[in-house]
Amino acid sequence: MSIFSKDLGIDLGTSNVVVYAEGKGIVLREPSVVAVDKNTGKILKVGAAAKNMLGRTPGNVVAMRPLREGVVSDYELTQRMLAEFFRQIFKFSFVKPRVVIAVPSGITSIEERAVVQIAQEAGARRVYLIEEPLAAALGTSLGFDGPDGHMVVDIGGGTTDVGVLTLNGLANSASIKVAGDNFDEAIIRYLRKKYGLIVGQTIAEEAKISVGTVYERKEPVETTVKGRDFKTGLPREISLSSTDMLEALRRPAHQIIEKILAVLEQTTPELVADIARNGIVLTGGGAQLWGMDKLITERTGMRCTVADDADSCVAYGCGKSLSWINRMQEGPINFARRKLLKE
Ligand SMILES: Nc1ncnc2c1ncn2[C@@H]1O[C@H](COP(=O)(O)OP(=O)(O)O)[C@@H](O)[C@H]1O
Ligand SMILES: [Mg+2]
Repeated sequence: MSIFSKDLGIDLGTSNVVVYAEGKGIVLREPSVVAVDKNTGKILKVGAAAKNMLGRTPGNVVAMRPLREGVVSDYELTQRMLAEFFRQIFKFSFVKPRVVIAVPSGITSIEERAVVQIAQEAGARRVYLIEEPLAAALGTSLGFDGPDGHMVVDIGGGTTDVGVLTLNGLANSASIKVAGDNFDEAIIRYLRKKYGLIVGQTIAEEAKISVGTVYERKEPVETTVKGRDFKTGLPREISLSSTDMLEALRRPAHQIIEKILAVLEQTTPELVADIARNGIVLTGGGAQLWGMDKLITERTGMRCTVADDADSCVAYGCGKSLSWINRMQEGPINFARRKLLKE
């Protein structure tokens, strides 16, 4: 048997699965992608190896993302993907872990039940669910020792989740289907329209990570993008700058800002004052987009910072909550309501 505890905190994201093991830290980080042989139904690859096949698979192989917009879209593939990740974590030992899984705050009870069943079928012994904004907040170094309010904005692949948190839990939250994937799509559209260049999602994402920008940069940066010419169909490369990106990404960036402003508007004046004092914290992979923090600061008039290890906060938060249920049943998280599976 492995030396570490059998309890796992799992960020089952649309783009990435991140797993935290008690006493060990992050033990797995893989893209939520599965490559399947269409003829046999056999899973060929999961994670990074499968993501590599997106857009370049032979006819009989499909590379798919089994989660969409934060929720399970393919039940069986999600279950098999998770089972494979458990196998990688526990190697050859037969371990049935207790797991805490983060789910979007807006999901239905049917969607919640699907996550619980998937985790059980993949090999979990007990399954607990936690609302994603809570997990994200727990995973940052925000102090949860007073009653005052905080705002956490998690920008993932499929959704951006805005949460207002107090010691008692989630005071207010909202989710919008605009996040990292939409930035990639905006880049694809921009390149086609402005440069007549066709690129796939992988190339668009790479360009976003290297020169993506949503706030004016004093020193613009550039990268080379390889694609196919729209007219000739032949390979062509262009130079793409952060100034181009500012234009390409304006719309999705502003949709996120509008959502944050809407949540602030629905929040009590007391909590808004707390948020103004504490600042807004960004988590999720998409939070690392250059200038997102600056844009939010400018538009809300409140200080906004990107959390350390932004793309691991949800998994860290799940891990943290796991140690709490060992010691006590009560706390800021209402596990009584969320605990769907008992011993
Ligand atoms: N440095 C970066 N700059 C901009 N976007 C990034 C960066 N790193 C990761 N991303 C984006 O973050 C998104 C994935 O974030 P993540 O929190 O893992 O998503 P999810 O919770 O949906 O699984 C992807 O769209 C990815 O392109
Ligand atoms: Mg996420």
